[in-house]
Amino acid sequence: TTTPRIPQPPLRPFVGNLPELDTDAPVQSLMRLARTYGPFFRLRILDREFYVASSQELVNELCDESRFNKRVHPPLKEIRAFAGDGLFTAYNSEPNWAKAHRLLMPAFGPIGVRSMFDRMLDIADQMFVRWVRFGPAASIDVADNMTRLTLDTIALCAFDYRFNSFYRDEMHPFVGAMVGALSESGQRARRPKLMTSLMLSTARRFDSDAALMRSVAQELIAERRRDPRGAEKHDLLNIMLNGVDPVTGEKLDDENIGYQMITFLIAGHETTSGLLSFATYLLLKNPQVLAKARAVVDEVLGDEMPRVEHLAQLRYIEQVLMESLRIWPTASVFAVKPLEDTLLAGKYPLTPDDSVMILEPMLHRDPAVWGDDAEAFVPERFAPENAEKLPPNAWKPFGNGARACIGRPFAMQEAQLVLAMMLQRFDIAFDDPSYQLKIHETLTIKPEGLRIRARSRRSAQ
Ligand code: HEM
Repeated sequence: TTTPRIPQPPLRPFVGNLPELDTDAPVQSLMRLARTYGPFFRLRILDREFYVASSQELVNELCDESRFNKRVHPPLKEIRAFAGDGLFTAYNSEPNWAKAHRLLMPAFGPIGVRSMFDRMLDIADQMFVRWVRFGPAASIDVADNMTRLTLDTIALCAFDYRFNSFYRDEMHPFVGAMVGALSESGQRARRPKLMTSLMLSTARRFDSDAALMRSVAQELIAERRRDPRGAEKHDLLNIMLNGVDPVTGEKLDDENIGYQMITFLIAGHETTSGLLSFATYLLLKNPQVLAKARAVVDEVLGDEMPRVEHLAQLRYIEQVLMESLRIWPTASVFAVKPLEDTLLAGKYPLTPDDSVMILEPMLHRDPAVWGDDAEAFVPERFAPENAEKLPPNAWKPFGNGARACIGRPFAMQEAQLVLAMMLQRFDIAFDDPSYQLKIHETLTIKPEGLRIRARSRRSAQ
């Protein structure tokens, strides 16, 4: 048998397919390429070659963990400068991955996350109280507000720390360091190494950002140890400081705990704030869905403060979020590699040195699964009776298998609560009715320049 030719855009000398990628919008570039070259194609960016897969049929094969597992792809490798062998950036073989995974799984499971409900409510209430004070004519920057919210929520739930982002204009220095270092990590992955090595001031900035993040984390650990009542707190930091891994009998060391803290802040806030921002946008674009979601919220919550028991009855809000993640999955790609030489789809030879990027936004538009109206926002696709008919691995916003997102229940609970509260308390509208969706890309995607007005539904206000 002969190997079929794998589609690839024309190569340019030295840079390969680099001109095909808009460095400020790599995900949107990959989507455009998938529309041209189909569900499996090859790219060469400088000296780096990889494949891009985006049909359910191929992705279903690539999610078979007996044949493929996670590749720590170039941007993630750069992030190791400050997230080290934390869960997100660890190589599969690093012992701290399995150790931390075993220790933290229960805390991030449904029961652990329910215990964080009141802290999530605390931060959400802070944001919405502020919206009421702004008044109905104010123009609210959605992504900015949601990012403050998700950052404060993960820090409060994970290590009982208050960033107090709603009480200051300038964000905490940790945030600036994190945003700067994440952006440089992405750029480094797409830039010739020689060029990076010549950019001395950028490198100094990157190193000092990484050092600042590490020192904030170590300071929080030291503070917890100094606090005479520290041991009474129920949070992830205490689980990491005191928990003993049942398999090795060992604790996590302070360096690794610091990496996990930075990881939670990185992985735990951009993605969820993007989700809440896209969900807001999609609801405003689809008034009939907004009306239905509002009706569900009014029936379940009425005028009450949300309680954890309400969440199970807000299933439609969860469907709205799942459909938002289908159309705009905020962590849009993850990478896998074969465990040994193999043929993908019985015809494309791959080796363990190869990387296959799974391009979620196109997987989530595969017409064989989602039909011809894949661009339409229809949360009913995720009603239980419809969701159970979906083929396996058709919806992958949280990655796959053992290396899938540990924060999924956390993110979904937080987003469900915040969206329900927004609909309960406000009539929302686009600030500029002619707003056209523009996507801002960093490691994640977000709607850029999305501004809304929020009128309190309580008549007195
Ligand atoms: C892993 C998406 C929220 C922590 C992942 C992966 C994806 C993802 C796609 C797999 C990455 C890969 O294969 O390379 C999302 C989305 C979120 C979200 C879309 C929100 C809507 C969160 C939150 C936390 C979190 C709230 C923490 C509190 C992590 C960690 C990993 C991970 C630690 C690495 C897991 C491991 O490999 O053991 N996430 N995530 N994520 N996520 Fe999330």
